[in-house]
Amino acid sequence: MVNLDPDIIPDVAEVDDKTLTIRWPDNHRSQFPVSWLKEMQFSNMSEDPVSTPVRQFWGNEMQHNIPKFSFADILHNDKSLHDWIEALQVHGLALIKDAPHKEGAIHEIGNRISILKTTNHGDTFQVYSKPKASNLAYTNVELGLHTDLTYYAYPPNIQLLHCIKQVQSKGGENQFCDGYKVTEDLRHIDPEVFRILTTMPIDFRNARTDSGKVYHMKHRSPTIQLFPDGRFKAISYSDSNRAPYVQIPVKDVHTIYRAMKMFNTELYKEENKIEIKLVEGEIASFDNQRVLHGRSSFTVTETSTRHIEGGYIDWDEACSRMRVIREKMRNQKPL
Ligand code: OGA
Ligand code: ZN
Repeated sequence: MVNLDPDIIPDVAEVDDKTLTIRWPDNHRSQFPVSWLKEMQFSNMSEDPVSTPVRQFWGNEMQHNIPKFSFADILHNDKSLHDWIEALQVHGLALIKDAPHKEGAIHEIGNRISILKTTNHGDTFQVYSKPKASNLAYTNVELGLHTDLTYYAYPPNIQLLHCIKQVQSKGGENQFCDGYKVTEDLRHIDPEVFRILTTMPIDFRNARTDSGKVYHMKHRSPTIQLFPDGRFKAISYSDSNRAPYVQIPVKDVHTIYRAMKMFNTELYKEENKIEIKLVEGEIASFDNQRVLHGRSSFTVTETSTRHIEGGYIDWDEACSRMRVIREKMRNQKPL
């Protein structure tokens, strides 16, 4: 840019079958292969398909149609790795089967893509019932449908929940709901509620001491975030991390709670949510900013405990891996 003159005019431009040759006023000569110019024509450049996937929204019918992948295939086969990420883009939910029944599987998947997204919970987090829990997740109580880390300005994109140990008794099931489907329904059912959820900010916070470090995290965002052209960007929804205050005029408080209640009611409709009891070695993977997840309460005994290892991956690295695999399969160079 320092040297660019946007108004420069070539002295001479000549083209033959193969090459465009330009002589500039300072006698500098540039040569461009015609094939390259054709490939790079401005009007020809369509949107990057990996960056703009076509999403398919789902309701309860997903219960029997969840895309499934094998852990070994994802680790050893590029096509499976690619197809798993693509399923996450399209459906926002996929199951990975037959992972080892011990910690570390999430790291292996993260390494296969690039790196896991580290948060102040660590590079992965362990969810198991423990006495005097500092966090609702570490108890055995129900967790309502939510997205994780709403108190971050950049919450993690993809979430993995690896079931290492599952309770034998009833309970400990995971619920999932396509938040974009529910929001799309709301857009038609009640446009005013849709407007409130997409514009009125909600405060999220998390104050805790973890591994000897004291945190007070805060972030404010509407429940549903849209791009300027109306496409979905993200959902931020978490009862347990919503702040006890709302930074909005008092006259709007009732309105916003009514709108959130309506959103919550839609999420929990039978037609919208699915439930899975993960078996040991299964990994639920989902778009943390689209598909809300929850968990039923469970009973822990000396012989029946529950252990989930969780971790996150961002779309930036996941999409990069998809592009690289596509380029390799098609023997293309990156543009
Ligand atoms: C969480 C969570 C799921 C589970 O810790 O945020 O959603 O299955 N846990 O325990
Ligand atoms: Zn969660």
